[in-house]
Amino acid sequence: MGLQIMLLLLFLFLLHLPTTIVAAPPPSNLTVYNYLSVQGPNSTSGYNTVQCGVPSSPQNNTFAQTFCFDMPLLSRPDLDSKLLGKVQGSYVFVSLSGGTLLVSESFTINNTINQGTFTGVGLEEIGQVSSKPITGGTDDFAFVSGVAITTPLSNGTDSNGNYYAWFMYQFIFDN
Ligand SMILES: *[C@@H]1O[C@H](CO)[C@@H](O)[C@H](O)[C@H]1NC(C)=O
Ligand SMILES: *[C@@H]1O[C@H](CO)[C@@H](O)[C@H](O)[C@H]1NC(C)=O
Ligand SMILES: *[C@@H]1O[C@H](CO)[C@@H](O)[C@H](O)[C@H]1NC(C)=O
Ligand SMILES: *[C@@H]1O[C@H](CO)[C@@H](O)[C@H](O)[C@H]1NC(C)=O
Ligand SMILES: *[C@@H]1O[C@H](CO)[C@@H](O)[C@H](O)[C@H]1NC(C)=O
Repeated sequence: MGLQIMLLLLFLFLLHLPTTIVAAPPPSNLTVYNYLSVQGPNSTSGYNTVQCGVPSSPQNNTFAQTFCFDMPLLSRPDLDSKLLGKVQGSYVFVSLSGGTLLVSESFTINNTINQGTFTGVGLEEIGQVSSKPITGGTDDFAFVSGVAITTPLSNGTDSNGNYYAWFMYQFIFDN
């Protein structure tokens, strides 16, 4: 009886131990694909990005408009491919003459090898290959630095009227 209770207590104790996390070294590089989908004027579904700020009066070239996003990071430019993480943040139109965004984003990686987060903040030229510095991070990406290169691949309008675009993200880590 005493033994049974002790075994039961041991079992309950083991059940509540946190899963052991073994840190893996950060990779030297990582390539993922992200899907941007901006809510269309009449859309109620299928988007991951919405306008979350406007200037107090309308400006030329969408200057000062702000968008917030929560996008999946995938193994291929295909929504049915393997989910490797997410990227969450915002972008602001910061050029009076248009064409430039200031992007502030946090990447969460959860693939079979690495878990953790790192941050990218920098300018993106719409429709062009752009780089921004990586500062990090947490867990496997603690103290990483590097460059995040984003390449636009394709874009269009989905059946809900959302504007969508595929990008490739290459993370080059300095380790
Ligand atoms: C990228 O990382 C892979 C291993 O994950 C490695 O084989 C490859 O050489 C790396 N490429 C560059 C350009 O560092
Ligand atoms: C959105 O809905 C309004 C009202 O039905 C319509 O006038 C407008 O053309 C629609 N816009 C788009 C982009 O479908
Ligand atoms: C906005 O565009 C108008 C018309 O081209 C121009 O006169 C005005 O100076 C622009 N405003 C700013 C802040 O650049
Ligand atoms: C990471 O991925 C694993 C396997 O897909 C999943 O069980 C776990 O909940 C994920 N962790 C987070 C924080 O999303
Ligand atoms: C959208 O795709 C077209 C080609 O289909 C391309 O010319 C254009 O530059 C792309 N726009 C952006 C913002 O990437």
